[in-house]
Parts: sequence; C-alpha cells; structure tokens
Amino acid sequence: MPELQQLDADHAPAVLAFELANRAYFAASISDRGDEFYDRFADRHSAMLAEQEAGDCAFYVLVADDGSVLGRFNLYDLKDGTANLGYRVAQHVAGRGVATATVLELCRLAAARHGLRSLRAATSHANAASQKVLAKAGFVPTGPADPADLGGKPGTWYQRELEPRP
Ligand SMILES: CC(C)(COP(=O)(O)OP(=O)(O)OC[C@H]1O[C@@H](n2cnc3c(N)ncnc32)[C@H](O)[C@@H]1OP(=O)(O)O)[C@@H](O)C(=O)NCCC(=O)NCCS
Repeated sequence: MPELQQLDADHAPAVLAFELANRAYFAASISDRGDEFYDRFADRHSAMLAEQEAGDCAFYVLVADDGSVLGRFNLYDLKDGTANLGYRVAQHVAGRGVATATVLELCRLAAARHGLRSLRAATSHANAASQKVLAKAGFVPTGPADPADLGGKPGTWYQRELEPRP
C-alpha cells in the first residue's frame, strides 16, 4: 500500500530516479527542470530539506512498497494559514486516481499537521489532467494565473478551503 511520507534525506535516490524516469513525461505538460537540477540533485535536495526545516514549505512523497517514488506533492510558501500546492505523478501509474486521492489526503494533512486553512494551485489551460485533479479534490477556480508562473502558458488559480483541525 503506497504511503505518503514527508520528505527526508533518505528519499534522495528514489526521488532522483522518479524525476529521471519521468522527465520527458512531465515536460509534455509542465516546464522541464533543466539539466542543472539533475546534475546537482544532492544540493537541491538538501536545500529543500532546509526550506522544510525553516517551516516555509512541506514536501511529501508517495512511496510504493518497494521504496520507489510514485509521486511528489508539495506545499510551498506556507504563510497566514495558506500555501500553494504542486504535484506530479509517475507515468506508469497515470489515470488511476493516484493524484486525486493523494491531493485529498494532503488536504487533510495540511490542516491537521500544518494548521492551514486553505490551499491554492495554479495550472495551465492546456493541462486537462491537472484541472480534473483539482476539480475532483474540491478546488474551485479563482482567477487567471500569471503565465510567468506556468512556463509562459496561460492558466488559472484554484483554491480550496480546508476543514478546521479537530
Ligand atoms: C496531472 C497529474 C498529476 C495527474 O496524475 P494522475 O494520477 O494521472 O491523476 P488522476 O488519475 O487522479 O486524475 C486524472 C484525471 O485526468 C484525466 N485526464 C488525463 N489526461 C487527460 C487529458 N489529456 N485530457 C482530459 N482528461 C485527462 C483522467 O482521465 C482523470 O480523470 P477521471 O478520473 O475523471 O477519468 C499527472 O498527469 C502529472 O504528473 N502530470 C505532469 C505534472 C503536472 O502536470 N503537474 C500538475 C501541475 S499544475
């Protein structure tokens, strides 16, 4: 049973393998990370852990039973009870509801563990799968996104209010 785990140092090799295996797949719908991301992955991973330690972000990985990473689900810019959500899911499990179920789980964690009251996400008009994920997870469109935030593509911001922490 895949498990949603908060990112730690031990995840580095599996996250890099996930990014390399799916690089071309992701680049078809979102901006490629560029060669430097892969060449200097260890530095990047350490920097993410430092951001997480500082409380600015909360990074999650969906880990399969064999330790491989099936998806990444990240909360950025935690501030004033809200955060931005980003995610990517491996091609070999696409279309099985993995992103939708995990975004819903992260919505629960965002409130219960991180004390957030709402989440925002931006997606391009061309990214039909991501729009579907957000709609199925209860997000509603709130307005246009700056194309500069979406690799030059026009898009929309979505938002979801979270149930308060019990
Ligand atoms: C977007 C992404 C996370 C979806 O992951 P997933 O696990 O396949 O998503 P789900 O299975 O939960 O839902 C995808 C939905 O989109 C639909 N879909 C997939 N491709 C589609 C397309 N080209 N056009 C229309 N709908 C599409 C699926 O049928 C499914 O809807 P359904 O459940 O009603 O059938 C994945 O495609 C991905 O990682 N893409 C690259 C990175 C990315 O775009 N991240 C989001 C940035 S905003």
